Amino acid sequence: MEHATVVVSGTKIAQEISSNRSEVWRMIQQLRGLGVDVAGHPATGYQLRSVPDLLLPEILRPLLRGTRFDEHIHHFYKIGSTNTAAMAAAAEGALEGSVFLAEEQTAGRGRGANTWQSQRSTGIYCSVILRPELPPSEVLVLSLAAGLAVRSAIEQVDSRVMADLKWPNDVLIDGKKVCGILTEMNAEATRVRYIVVGIGLNVNQPTFPKELGATSLRLVAGSEWSRVELVVALLKSLDREYRQLLEDPDARQSILLRFAKSSTWVQGKKVRIEENGSAFEGTTEGLDPRGFLQVRTPHGLQTVLSGTVRER
Ligand code: BTN
Repeated sequence: MEHATVVVSGTKIAQEISSNRSEVWRMIQQLRGLGVDVAGHPATGYQLRSVPDLLLPEILRPLLRGTRFDEHIHHFYKIGSTNTAAMAAAAEGALEGSVFLAEEQTAGRGRGANTWQSQRSTGIYCSVILRPELPPSEVLVLSLAAGLAVRSAIEQVDSRVMADLKWPNDVLIDGKKVCGILTEMNAEATRVRYIVVGIGLNVNQPTFPKELGATSLRLVAGSEWSRVELVVALLKSLDREYRQLLEDPDARQSILLRFAKSSTWVQGKKVRIEENGSAFEGTTEGLDPRGFLQVRTPHGLQTVLSGTVRER
């Protein structure tokens, strides 16, 4: 990476890593298998054709300096689910600010019983551990703030792209889902032990099956996006939102207001709510002070505590 686009002989690489040329060849083959574009062979030397857009801790750490996410970054080429890994690590005492990133997930999880498609190096699959001193009832607001952080990261990288937030945790562009957030926690009745915020962002996927109703940033903008730039913008925004929530007594109100302003779903949308096997219809009427969606129905104002919101 430090000598990208320069041809380096197999012998020199072997010396640098105290190995031999055939071992270097084996490792280069392995890197190619992971999608790294390396030209050349043992006789002529190797050339990194382009710096790969991999979410490596060595690349991200300096770019995240000054945030709580710069120290414990874990990167996996392939993993079941970064949320599962982060929850397990948190249970073992992993520190606040630990980040789990994967190039590919084989068992990516969504809300409810949904799965999350996580093809290799096309999306961002990222989970972070937080240990806020908050009651569990405040966690929804934090989760809404994560949606704001995603929206702001997309806008920072390309100001032409405007995302819509769908309560509680989807990010949509042109009515199609570009990002989902899965917030999980371990808590006592009055105190959170730890939270994992898992973010799946569709970045460079070239297509999606129509029935998924999904899109990627590449499909929206017509060209590839830098995942490194996006994940850095995202973790910086999340750090800022989280700090404000912990330090500023007005932050909760600000998150709810900004969420409502960034969402076409919070006010005046005709919706169908599917919750625990039953469903009802109505028109959205804002968020309550804890961040729950309120829906006006023929039987009065109903508060949506969980469940799926669909337009009707
Ligand atoms: C949803 O919209 O249902 C939430 C999707 C969350 C997907 C992300 S990808 C990174 C993290 N690891 C997982 O297994 N899920 C979340």
